Amino acid sequence: MALWGGRFTQEADVRFKNFNDSLVFDYRMAIQDIEGSMGWAKAIAEVGIITNEELVQLEQALKELLDEVSKDPESIKNAGHEDIHSYVEASLINKVGDLGKKLHTGRSRNDQVATDLKLWCKAQVKVLLGSINNLENTLVNVADQYFDTVMPGYTHLQRAQPVTFGHWAMAYCEMFHRDYKRLQNALELMDTCPLGSAALAGTAYPINRDKLAQDLGFKTATRNSLDSVSDRDHVLELLSCASISMVHLSRMAEDLIIYNSGEAAFVELSDKVTSGSSLMPQKKNPDALELIRGKSGRVFGSLTGMLTTLKALPLAYNKDMQEDKEGLFDALDTWHDCLDMAALVFEGIIIRKERVLAAAKGGYSNATELADYLVSKGIPFREAHHIVGETVVYAIKEGKPLEDLSVAEFKKFSDKVEDDVYPILQIESILAKRCAKGGVSLEQIKSAIAFMKNELSKR
Ligand code: ARG
Repeated sequence: MALWGGRFTQEADVRFKNFNDSLVFDYRMAIQDIEGSMGWAKAIAEVGIITNEELVQLEQALKELLDEVSKDPESIKNAGHEDIHSYVEASLINKVGDLGKKLHTGRSRNDQVATDLKLWCKAQVKVLLGSINNLENTLVNVADQYFDTVMPGYTHLQRAQPVTFGHWAMAYCEMFHRDYKRLQNALELMDTCPLGSAALAGTAYPINRDKLAQDLGFKTATRNSLDSVSDRDHVLELLSCASISMVHLSRMAEDLIIYNSGEAAFVELSDKVTSGSSLMPQKKNPDALELIRGKSGRVFGSLTGMLTTLKALPLAYNKDMQEDKEGLFDALDTWHDCLDMAALVFEGIIIRKERVLAAAKGGYSNATELADYLVSKGIPFREAHHIVGETVVYAIKEGKPLEDLSVAEFKKFSDKVEDDVYPILQIESILAKRCAKGGVSLEQIKSAIAFMKNELSKR
């Protein structure tokens, strides 16, 4: 059953076989292995290793196998073969007999697995781009709906200055927009085909590798055979794209968990993405968000694992590299699920506008405005900052927000304060003043949303 029996006189220990075999997880590359084999069959026919009739027969059998496997890919995972390459070759031999044994001429599992995995990554990237795009669209719609819903903005988790829920949503949209571009860049960089590099030194047949690459949907062939079979940069890059994006997802989840807490009660999550407690009947827990936050850990773990596996590997192929798949598959599945779940969380979310407005008004988040007001009356900023600090201490003692102090009370700290102070302490004025690009004025928020809608419509 193994591909390499001739050199051996003893059967592999079953414990070693179980340890060594990868079919239980690399069956996920079945379609790519068959597609790669179709490309290779054509390439070896072109240099006369097989005849055109043989090529037609091989293509026919591979096509049949593709149909069978596509119906139920999981069904092959316990077929007992060493890996997906052995499985496909054995299945082919079953269908066309000795002709199936010719396919591996000039090829090695080393360039085969590198090609399969790149093909798999490319297909997966397209799915992931779709999920990021969906989340970005969701966030833009949320931002549109709540572009002027005032809420507190925080630094150090202390209320700092008012922002709007739309501005908050667009902050995350910007992050996912970068994630999308990062993934596109990764896709471009991995678009080279290793097939024809054979075991490490290149195939011994005069294959037109650039044509083969293009037949398989790659831009071009790789340039160095040693690098081709050893390169797993695309795995690292996808894991790092996933990790960075999981940081964004996890931070967004954390913000929403805080906004959903009993203390803040800024948002109410839909029943569709929350769960109850088995003991406490009143509870509605933000499990979807907590799982997004929690699952970031395993994605970072896969990245660290792969970096560590590769770091001291001598050229060229070593079996260590078989460890590239499970972490990658798990990380990309996890990332995909989290992107979709994050979008789902926004379906039916309720923003409690009065609560967020009241919170934005509390916490003296208009103190900076008072300092700027004093600056406009000729007081140097550092001095103004000090005066406002003292005024805030007084207001806290009196249990009043700044805008409820009388002019006489303000004058205890600075005689420059007059009646015209009140409008500048209002939320509307605070937002409106921040009209430079990227600020929270409603015009800026609207234009950021419009920019993003236009970007998304170009995809
Ligand atoms: N299952 C192997 C892997 O995933 C395929 C390549 C095997 N190559 C070898 N020289 N043993 O890496």
